[in-house]
Amino acid sequence: MTAPAPSLLVEDLAFAYPDGHQALFGVDLRVERGERVALLGPNGAGKTTLVLHLNGILRGGRGSVAVAGLPVDQRNLQEVRRRVGIVFQDPDDQLFMPTVGEDVAFGPRNLGLPEPEVRARVAAALAQVGMGGAADRPPHHLSFGQRRRVAVATVLSMHPEILVLDEPSSNLDPAGRRELAEVLESLPVTVLMVTHDLPYALQLCPRSVVLDGGVVVADGPTRELLADPVLLARHRLELPYGFDPRTVP
Ligand SMILES: Nc1ncnc2c1ncn2[C@@H]1O[C@H](COP(=O)(O)OP(=O)(O)OP(=O)(O)O)[C@@H](O)[C@H]1O
Ligand SMILES: [Mg+2]
Repeated sequence: MTAPAPSLLVEDLAFAYPDGHQALFGVDLRVERGERVALLGPNGAGKTTLVLHLNGILRGGRGSVAVAGLPVDQRNLQEVRRRVGIVFQDPDDQLFMPTVGEDVAFGPRNLGLPEPEVRARVAAALAQVGMGGAADRPPHHLSFGQRRRVAVATVLSMHPEILVLDEPSSNLDPAGRRELAEVLESLPVTVLMVTHDLPYALQLCPRSVVLDGGVVVADGPTRELLADPVLLARHRLELPYGFDPRTVP
């Protein structure tokens, strides 16, 4: 028997935007099934550009991306978008239906799944993010943190191979931040999480990858990377005042 393909395999990925600005210069990244990995790096490092390659929103540079062994290319886009659930930084980019339930049903309905299966997936995904009672509410009546959790549910209902979150803790109050961490910890799914919130990375992701200048500059246990002040300073990563990663259990 051959080993299962990794959830995500990025090889030598380079990309320049149409205006000529090159954002990625040969990125290699392998994420195994069930891993939770934080993607760290300063503003402009290329994190979002990398994320946008994972489901083929951006394509056409050098190198390759594969999701559970399936190459991300024009032919496979539909299946790739089912396998890669991207939660964007702004939940309002993701929620556009009159009710929460319809938003979470949108993807599975587009797959042509039978209606009872759609309803079961919606109920399960909303329960997973602790929003079980909100199916009939309009998304714009929810708080920001609740909308972010619904945005997570809209991708969970697709049963993704990998969940990709761009800055999931931004704009959440401390309780909302903690509640989302509990949701993410409870999910049996591969996670790639872009974040500037280093304690969040330490709490949720045993492994971190640092991207800077469009290349991977470090890849290792989150605790070790965060305990390396030279590495952090070189890549404009800063721990919150008083936070010592060595004393976190
Ligand atoms: N549409 C675009 N056209 C041209 N250049 C772009 C475009 N989007 C991003 N860039 C450039 O590509 C580089 C990487 O940007 P990207 O948004 O991937 O960084 P990031 O790591 O996500 O940063 P942040 O932490 O601020 O979100 C930056 O230099 C940025 O200016
Ligand atoms: Mg970004």
